[in-house]
Formats: sequence, C-alpha cells, structure tokens
Amino acid sequence: MSKIIGIDLGTTNSCAAIVENGAVKLVPYKGGEFIIPSIFAIDDKGNELIGHEAKRQWQLNPRNTVYAAKRLVGRSYASDIVGAMKKQVAYEMKPGERNDVLLDIGHKSFRLAEISAKILNKIRQVAQDYLGEKVTRAVVTVPAYFTDRQRQAVKDAGKMIQLEVVRIINEPTAAALAYGIGKNLHETTVIYDLGGGTFDVSIIEIRDRVFEVKATGGDIFLGGLDFDQAMIQHVLDDFTKKHGIDLSTDPVAMQRIKDLAERVKIDLSSRESAPFSVPFVTMTPQGQPLNIDFTFTRKLLEELTTPLVDRTVAILERVMADAGLEYKNVDELLLVGGQTRMPVVQKRLEKIFGKAPSKGVHPDEAVAIGAALYAHSLEDNSDLRLQLLDVIPMAIGLERAGGEFHTVFARNAAIPNAKAIDATTSYDGQTEVAMRIFQGDAPQVAQNELLGDFLFSGLKPGPSGSARLEITFDVSIEGILTMSARDLDTGKQMKTTVRVTQS
Ligand SMILES: Nc1ncnc2c1ncn2[C@@H]1O[C@H](COP(=O)(O)OP(=O)(O)OP(=O)(O)O)[C@@H](O)[C@H]1O
Ligand SMILES: [Mg+2]
Repeated sequence: MSKIIGIDLGTTNSCAAIVENGAVKLVPYKGGEFIIPSIFAIDDKGNELIGHEAKRQWQLNPRNTVYAAKRLVGRSYASDIVGAMKKQVAYEMKPGERNDVLLDIGHKSFRLAEISAKILNKIRQVAQDYLGEKVTRAVVTVPAYFTDRQRQAVKDAGKMIQLEVVRIINEPTAAALAYGIGKNLHETTVIYDLGGGTFDVSIIEIRDRVFEVKATGGDIFLGGLDFDQAMIQHVLDDFTKKHGIDLSTDPVAMQRIKDLAERVKIDLSSRESAPFSVPFVTMTPQGQPLNIDFTFTRKLLEELTTPLVDRTVAILERVMADAGLEYKNVDELLLVGGQTRMPVVQKRLEKIFGKAPSKGVHPDEAVAIGAALYAHSLEDNSDLRLQLLDVIPMAIGLERAGGEFHTVFARNAAIPNAKAIDATTSYDGQTEVAMRIFQGDAPQVAQNELLGDFLFSGLKPGPSGSARLEITFDVSIEGILTMSARDLDTGKQMKTTVRVTQS
C-alpha cells in the first residue's frame, strides 16, 4: 500500500508531513518552504492558480482570488457567518441548490468542497513530487469545533480528487500527538490553537501512547484574520476622518490594505511600532493622489484586539469548567497557530496559568506533524501504536415540537459513540417517519446547525402509536454522524433518505 500523508488544511496556510525512514518531516515545497497558502485564484486568461502563485497576484485580482474559504465550508448561505464574510472578502458568493454557498470566480461557479479539493490536490502534488510516488491516501486535520457537516465536506473534497481521506482528526489533537509521542508522558495538557481563521482549545490527557480528549471548545470565526480586520477597520476609519473618503468599496485598495495589515501585525510581534503606509491608495475628486500614512503601535493593536483575546479566554474558561479542571492542575500549556506569536496572547495565558507556555511544539508545524504521525500509525506495517480518544465539540440531537432541541449526545461526548431512541407513529396509516437532526449547544434548533433531514420509510401501516421503531445515531471516530432505523416488530432495517445534505 502507498504511503498515507498528513495534511494540515489551514484557513490561511496548509502544509503536509510524512514519516520517512522512521522520522517525521514536513514536505518541502520547491526547495525551502513548507507552507502553501490556502488560496485559489483564476487569472484573466482563465488559468487556475493555487498557493503561492495565487497569493502573488491577489492584490491585483481580488475578485477572482479565494482565500479563507475554510470559514464557509459546511455553512448555510443564509447564516450570519456567511453574511459577515460577504462584507470582508472581494470574491462573490451566491446560494447553491442545497442552501450551501457557491463562489463565483472567473465566470465559473465553485462549490466549497471543490475549492478545498483544489488546495488538497496542490498539497498532494507537492508531496508526490517530493516522494517520487503517487499519493492516494491522507489523514486530514480539521478544527475541533467543526460540525459533522463540515467534516463531511472535507471527506467529499478528498473524493473529488481521488484522495482517500482515511481519517479526519482534530487539529489540537494532532498538535498534542506531535508534542507527546515517544516521550512516555503522563500529563494533562491544554492546547490553545489560534490560527488564521479558527480558535480551538482542547484539554488532553496524555498517558504515553493514549491521547484522551477531556473537553473541547472553540469558535470557527475567531483567528488571525479577525485581528487583521480590527486593524483594517481602524485604518479605514482614520482615512475617512482625514479625507472624507470611504475606501471599503474599492477592492484593489482594500486588498492592498489587507495585505499590509497582516504584515504590520506580524511586525508588531517583534517591535513596538511599525509604519502602515499605502502610497497612492486613491485619488481626490480633483484627481490628487492620496496615501495612507499611519504609524501603528503594538499598544494600539493590543487595544483594538482585546475583545478577540477576551473571547478566546471565555472559551478557555468554559472548556476548563467542562473538564472540571483547575488551572493549577494543568501540566503543560501548548500554543499552536501563528496568531499565538502575538506577545499579548502569551502574556495573558501566562498570567492565567501561572506559568509560561511549553516550548515543545512548533506553532505552525505541530498540526501537520501530528497528522503524519497518526497517518503512519494507520499504515499496515507500522510499529507505531496510538490510541486517540476524542469527543464531539457540540451536542447532536433532534428537533422536537415547537423547535425545541432534544439532545442525544451532549457536547464532549466521547467518540465513537452510538445511541438508540424509540419512536412511533403519530397518525393512522403512517408509513414514514421524518426527523430533523441538528448540532449545537442552543436549546432551540433554530440557533443550531442543521445536519440533515432524515426520512425513514417502509413502515407497515397501522393505527397511530402502534409502530415501534428504534432510531440509531452513530457518531464515528471522526465525529461524523450516520443515522439508521429499524422496525422492531418486523426486525427490518428501514430505508433512510437524507433530504438536506452537506455543501
Ligand atoms: N509573528 C506573528 N505574530 C502575529 N500573528 C502571526 C504571526 N505569524 C503568523 N501570524 C498569524 O497567524 C495566522 C496564521 O496562522 P496558522 O498558519 O496557524 O493558521 P491556519 O492553520 O492557516 O488557520 P486555521 O488553523 O485557523 O485554519 C495568520 O493570521 C497570521 O497573520
Ligand atoms: Mg491551523
């Protein structure tokens, strides 16, 4: 069998790793770089560009350059998150047939899974070039806070390019593997993963080769991009104040500002102030060129982004409470994700935990390394034995009368897991039972994510309330739900149809 590679499919950056001759390493791309920007574009000649090539031209071609698509995966077009994204990005979105999001780029429509597939394919090619052999199987990481629907979308993306996603694992869990394998540890670790797009926190007990997740939490819409956005908003407001011109409607100006915001933000992790200058960003109605000329200080950046850091801390606190854990009983704090390089993030956590974060993991590389180690453990001839015990990040349940959410699996329920509930008919002659399944922590289904509209058919008609059905919810080790139903009177498995599926 061919090699299984590990892939960190990030919001902003992706990366692959492999185990070769007993050593785990990142797959280098054209010499030195390990990271491939998660960007897809179509240029004016209709060529598809992925990764560095796409990033290089995004200032000039913002409408046809897709970035941060991971934030849209598995989302309904009507959701608030999609609404918020529409305001921030220059590429066009429209609703798809199944209430999903379609992207319009270069006069073509793309489903989100197709964009993920393009990026996965690029990473696969890079790995193939390096290994000199075909790559058909991968372990792919996703945010711990991804729903069933979002996980499905990653599997679908793999299928589109004949890349078998043999296992999906959670990013913080992968980071813990990178940190803990081969050290014979017995400790409780907190993984705080603040990347480009998402925030995850997981509490993981490591007992040598056993990695048991105690609790997890996160926010799919909290990451470096939001730190950039806070800076961008400040610069735009300042420009409007000075010149009375709103730059937010000018896509090329916006792309230049966005690009610079990230660079200045990164600079401010190692210096106290940095210039924020965009020459000739626009013109006055009289045709006079205008520049953005601003000096950003670290202090200002910290002020603007305090609410974001506060949100991560609130989530951390909830996850600690869910695990019944006190800060003083945490053995190690691991920081993962590029945005944790911001000094104030580290300082804040150091204060909360009463100790400095571990230096034992590389914030950009740990997730891919962990994925590769896990991939290696799944290979036939592997001598690496690992046990991952993970949890679901949000409750899974069904809709009851009045839109009430009835929990079947509570959040942080261990996976794999299966549960059966009893059901019956509610009118005479009924031959089908419908059920709407949701994932989320809100008491009303309207605030949760719809996973599917299931229809179980083939019941023998009879009086209302006479049928006896058993409906089984099965959550796989990857956090993916499968539903089935059995007619207890006949013992027969019923036909299951899903009416709303993933994007
Ligand atoms: N030195 C730095 N200081 C502050 N932020 C940084 C620094 N280096 C990188 N970042 C930020 O980290 C983010 C990228 O982190 P990372 O590569 O871990 O994310 P990702 O894996 O693409 O996203 P996610 O894990 O959320 O899907 C970007 O927003 C980037 O600006
Ligand atoms: Mg990441």
